[in-house]
Amino acid sequence: MGKLLLLNGPNLNRLGRREPDVYGNETLEDIESNIRSLVEKYNYTLTAKQSNHEGSLIDWIHDSEETYEGIIFNPGAYTHTSIAIRDAISSVTVPVIEVHISNVHKRESFRHTSMLAPVCEGQIVGLGTKGYELAAQYLLNK
Ligand code: DQA
Repeated sequence: MGKLLLLNGPNLNRLGRREPDVYGNETLEDIESNIRSLVEKYNYTLTAKQSNHEGSLIDWIHDSEETYEGIIFNPGAYTHTSIAIRDAISSVTVPVIEVHISNVHKRESFRHTSMLAPVCEGQIVGLGTKGYELAAQYLLNK
């Protein structure tokens, strides 16, 4: 049975309450249970983790090697700042799909750059929480 990892970074535990005009009303629990149902239809299992700490995200990326077939990753604001997370992604062979709920390119200029996109397999931006589903579908079809 294949395994996918859903990782969410800082402040995404606040979804549903956090700036609903930007991020919508769905909670992280809603997203995790939707993606879990989707992957289970393909006889895969999903592990979902969230952290506000860069080091935890790095440790989980390292540990993903040889366990997961893909990572769906919304790194939150670390997208724009973290060379350490970029190096962690580069250090593993597991394909990572970067997901952003909002269209970061329509927002402040500091959100226009992703430190991580060059080392990810792909990036899905601005399609709301549907982006997580599309990333899962891509990995499942791979
Ligand atoms: C985000 C976009 C980031 O710029 C922001 O810091 C987030 C959420 C998104 O899903 O749209 O925390 O990753």
